[in-house]
Amino acid sequence: MTSTSMYREHILDLYRNPSNFGKLENPTNYYKEFNPLCGDEVEIQLIIKNNVIENVKFIGKGCAISIASASLVTDKIKGKSIDDINKFSKDDVLKMLNIPISPGRIKCATLSLEALRKAII
Ligand code: FES
Repeated sequence: MTSTSMYREHILDLYRNPSNFGKLENPTNYYKEFNPLCGDEVEIQLIIKNNVIENVKFIGKGCAISIASASLVTDKIKGKSIDDINKFSKDDVLKMLNIPISPGRIKCATLSLEALRKAII
């Protein structure tokens, strides 16, 4: 097995069994972002208290990269301040995915980040 296929396996595991998948009862903030290229969507729901992400969940449908990314992003931001979230970049998400992402898949990889940014505006 090459290291690339190991990374792909990691992405597929997250796709099949993502962290934080589901709905929050009373989110303070939420946003559903679409990928216009394929029609896939990810909705991020947050409970923000005193400028801190107390809880986060997501729902949606998408490719393995978009769902794996939403899983990683939601894990990463739990307990973080809004200031930390504002510093969280596209490159940070690509680093967490840890696989080569072609330019055509960047939107897949950053769908959850876009939803997150719009949810906290
Ligand atoms: Fe639709 Fe990736 S192909 S989000």
